[in-house]
Amino acid sequence: MEKIQHDVAIIGTGIAGMRAAIAAAEKSDKISIALISKTYPIRCHSVCAEGGINVALREEDSFESHAWDTVKGSDFLADQDAVEFFVKEIPKEILRLDNWGCPWSRTEDGKIAQRILGGHAVNRTVFAADRTGFHIVHTLYERSLRYPSIQKYNEFFVTSLIVEDKEIRGLTAIDLKNGELVVFETKAIILATGGAGRLYGFTSCSHIVTGDGMALAYTAGAPLKDMEFIQFHPTGLVPAGGILISEACRGEGGYLKNKFGERFMSRYAPDRMELAPRDIVSRAIVREILEGRSFEGEHGPYVLLDLTHLGEEKINERLPLIREASIKFAGIDPVNEPIPVRPTVHYTMGGVHASFTETPIKGLFVAGEVACLSIHGANRLGGNALAECLVFGKVSGEKAAEYVLGKMRKEWHVNRETYEKEEKSLSDLLGKEGDESPYEIKKELNAAMERYFGVFRNEDDMKEGVRRIRRLKERYQNISIDDKSNAFNTDLIFTIEVGYMLDLAEIVAIGALNRKESRGAHYRLDYPKRDDVNWLKHTLAYYTKEGPRFDHTPITITKWKPVERKY
Ligand code: FUM
Repeated sequence: MEKIQHDVAIIGTGIAGMRAAIAAAEKSDKISIALISKTYPIRCHSVCAEGGINVALREEDSFESHAWDTVKGSDFLADQDAVEFFVKEIPKEILRLDNWGCPWSRTEDGKIAQRILGGHAVNRTVFAADRTGFHIVHTLYERSLRYPSIQKYNEFFVTSLIVEDKEIRGLTAIDLKNGELVVFETKAIILATGGAGRLYGFTSCSHIVTGDGMALAYTAGAPLKDMEFIQFHPTGLVPAGGILISEACRGEGGYLKNKFGERFMSRYAPDRMELAPRDIVSRAIVREILEGRSFEGEHGPYVLLDLTHLGEEKINERLPLIREASIKFAGIDPVNEPIPVRPTVHYTMGGVHASFTETPIKGLFVAGEVACLSIHGANRLGGNALAECLVFGKVSGEKAAEYVLGKMRKEWHVNRETYEKEEKSLSDLLGKEGDESPYEIKKELNAAMERYFGVFRNEDDMKEGVRRIRRLKERYQNISIDDKSNAFNTDLIFTIEVGYMLDLAEIVAIGALNRKESRGAHYRLDYPKRDDVNWLKHTLAYYTKEGPRFDHTPITITKWKPVERKY
């Protein structure tokens, strides 16, 4: 067995993972760091982030105001101690990235420009045109090259976390170029693998966003938290939902219109209109669709996002990617015509249960979308995800570094049996010759999630959804992998990802069925009200061989008592 030894392994090389690596490297040059990616750092999903990153920088803003908007946006499920810490840390990250060369958009007098996104009281979102994620990723990547202690392992697919006595020992990964199973012996692991948007078909998430880190942590014994809260971003491009039409379009002044030309948001959020939080705008669009006020096209229903009044100059300066993508993928130039849109799955509010990045497994840390640090509660505000990746990427890197510095003399320790067990389970999977196709199972999973766990949910539909997911899990036992080769076996990787997604789908589904209230992105037609008496608490899901076991944990309230959420 090939063994690779590092003090810390970071899985995932998006903004959270790279920020974590830099923070660990800066903490001590005595720590060796493996930065592991199933693709390449600059092909991570973070590059797709468009609209920007929130920070209270100006006099008219404050930490208090940013925190309050975040807590209210979360429908009061956020942990307020984490939110208060988060808003205070972001300014340092924005200025640090500025020093590292991130090309933030500027005002005419040279200050860092800020726009507004949904649910915020003021212009709070720093941006780099509409390619914010792309520029942050490139800035961090360049910075990471300074540190010889960071070693990159690109195209390594992680198959298990090795935990003994509730403590991290390492991980196993397939080296994709030759199919070899490799053991990384490590003292700490930081998961920064992103969300699970690909549980759904119509999603703005890249094909790599398959919930790997969540599934790995779950089967290794860490609970997942609040997985029933899936964010639908209001404006996915129709037909290609994978192309996000950024909330920045509405922040810059775009209108949503139905087939009668009405700015229909006046019915749902008369004060904030198009800049209400995402859960509210997505529900409004789906209501317009259900009540016959949308357009019907070859690729399903849609409403219009109208930017034509903004003018070509502003669109070119602030929204160049949106213009290019609309032309390329829908044949529509937003300078002249409105863009067809409908809600698309965008973000997983839930994730690995952790407090300030520390999970219940010793040596296992989490940062970014894979984590549920409870900043976003039941509904994330636009612009808070990149901020979370930077703030808690740094925290996780520093905590992991401190953890391994305290363990410098500890023996490396992964035994041969652990490796052989994993190798056998992978070779059994590769050898499978059943009747079921993993591609068909994924297609049916996506259809079930969309049909039964969408913007509006109800008991009967969700019960049917749970039945279907369980049936898909059974069918997965009887799959066949066509490609039996070793090098770059994408059939095998896809099949493992589908297995991860089936586990996660079951947790989303049962968690949603259990939660008998409406809160944030989880809206039940049969329980349309928020129920703080019974449900002001987090859901936890623990792995058992028979399926997830559910429990709850309280939320942390520091200053803001739940009130009615109006916009
Ligand atoms: O609409 C957007 O550009 C997305 C931003 C976000 O998810 O934070």
